Amino acid sequence: MKKILVTGGCGYIGSHTIVDLIENGFEVISVDNNSRSSARILEGVEKITGKKVKNYKVDLCNFDDTFAIFQENEDISGIIHFAAFKAVGESVEQPLLYFENNMVSLINLLKCVQEFNVPNFVFSSSCTVYGNPDQIPVTENTPPKPAESPYGYTKQMGEQVINEFSKAHPTKCILLRYFNPVGAHPSTLIGELPLGKPANLVPAITQTAIGKIPVMNVFGTDYPTRDGSCVRDYIHVCDIASAHTKALELLLSGKSKKRCDVFNLGSGNGVTVLEAIQAFEKVSGVKLNYVLGPRRPGDVIAIYANNDHACQALDWSIKYSLDEMMLTAWKWEQKIQTDARFYQNKSAGLN
Ligand code: WQD
Repeated sequence: MKKILVTGGCGYIGSHTIVDLIENGFEVISVDNNSRSSARILEGVEKITGKKVKNYKVDLCNFDDTFAIFQENEDISGIIHFAAFKAVGESVEQPLLYFENNMVSLINLLKCVQEFNVPNFVFSSSCTVYGNPDQIPVTENTPPKPAESPYGYTKQMGEQVINEFSKAHPTKCILLRYFNPVGAHPSTLIGELPLGKPANLVPAITQTAIGKIPVMNVFGTDYPTRDGSCVRDYIHVCDIASAHTKALELLLSGKSKKRCDVFNLGSGNGVTVLEAIQAFEKVSGVKLNYVLGPRRPGDVIAIYANNDHACQALDWSIKYSLDEMMLTAWKWEQKIQTDARFYQNKSAGLN
């Protein structure tokens, strides 16, 4: 069984990817310092897969601690690197925190990849590298624009670091550019655990619907789009997860055509904020309490993916619809409200 190291394995996309990897025959270990995640999410992973996943509670910014993981696991066939801070707004307020955390952790990891000759490396990137694109849908050849935030710059710089690393070392790399991951595993045993007041649309919708937030803001309805609200490419987190397994399988097959290939992970459909709200109201039966507010600084007007390259080269396809994204997100919100004690703790609001 091939062993895969997943960094950020207790996080939203990391935990869903671990489920998919196990279901496809991989052995998985996780490294996650749980500063912004709950190690208990791996109990949900175990309930779904029947497999207990070991998590190394290590900060990747600590090189010695990171190195020790590789000394203990010299048979790692591949790494999927999720661990990073990802709150756009926070990155604007605390740029050095983001540059240090997201870049030092990546470089420490790559030093270990080099030292232990890890053959395959998959990087969690983001559509944020495209900025406000001139043309949509965007392909992987759409030129990157200046990022809208320090978070976005850490993804752009991360891609460059990995690209240059792959030219100098035999490790084969893949960069996966996520659009807007939403929803939860159909079992309702794992899902997103946003810290504090959610910045992202779908957790804001579900927390408003369940009454955790009294009213939700629609940030801007005067954009040059079909209904005035921003357009995004929402994609179910399980579709994102399956693409990671497919990316690793491509690398392990030796058939990857490039030393460092890039893939857009989007559904290929542009959906406005108001359309997303309407889809939620339809599947949940809940009338959402929202107000039409001013634009949010830094928001991209419209972006969605051309995902042909990922579908063809990864033999990947989208399985979940917008309705299923909203329904699974809603079921998960209802679940964590009833199990709030399970996910709460003193420090980061999670355990
Ligand atoms: C989507 C749309 C908001 C909340 C960010 C990161 C991106 C990725 C996903 C990590 C926008 C509107 C939102 C609300 C609203 N993260 N909105 N009311 O900004 O597209 O992408 O998260 O990789 O890198 O940039 O996602 O969900 O925050 O916003 O109207 O309460 O929903 O204005 O138009 P975004 P989002």
